[in-house]
Amino acid sequence: MPDNKLTIALSKGRMQDGALALFARAGVIVAESELNSRKLIINSTDGRYSFVLVKPPDVPIYVEYGVADAGVCGRDVLMESRAGVHEPLDLKFGRCKIAVAAKREVVGQDYNLLATVRVATKYPRIATDYFHAKGVPIEVITLSGSVELAPLLGLSDRIVDLVETGRTLEENGLEVIDVIAESTAWLIVNRASFHLKRAEIGGLIAQLTEILNQ
Ligand code: PRP
Repeated sequence: MPDNKLTIALSKGRMQDGALALFARAGVIVAESELNSRKLIINSTDGRYSFVLVKPPDVPIYVEYGVADAGVCGRDVLMESRAGVHEPLDLKFGRCKIAVAAKREVVGQDYNLLATVRVATKYPRIATDYFHAKGVPIEVITLSGSVELAPLLGLSDRIVDLVETGRTLEENGLEVIDVIAESTAWLIVNRASFHLKRAEIGGLIAQLTEILNQ
């Protein structure tokens, strides 16, 4: 394995296809046989890149610890993780919003600053920061997914979650109350790799920047 090979952590799931499509435009091709396998480390056909496939919240961890030189993950994940990594490039796909939502009948109701609001979310830090800034006391209920269920079942009053098309909210009788932030996919880079593999990382950033500006 050449030591200038780059290891890239990718979020498994909806962001993986967008990331690999972008790398393909940069001439980094992964064979169908690799893509269709259950391997968690897949290689580009030219042997210059290795992609490790991990759960979205784990991408910054692999990159911060340097077992991956770089990674692709959503701004939502970066905001929540606060990992010590470089964030050199907005890759401009995977666009969505981090939003506060609730049942339709709750939308428009003011917060009672003396009552604790129960908030279900996959983003406990983002939710805590948002409500603390408003002075609203909250109890965070951290879930791993299907967060929209929480208000339906009375587990929480509000949720903080990703909204992409809005379909999940709509079909579960929920509405956005406020948008906390916009999120897109970002290229993140390990701090040491940024210097030790300056040529390779710099080349990748330049190539991706050129593609994004086309
Ligand atoms: C995300 C997010 C919402 C949904 C939003 O969940 O947490 O549930 O997508 O998409 P929409 O606005 O297009 O309907 P994901 O599919 O990642 O699954 P999860 O519920 O297991 O987190």
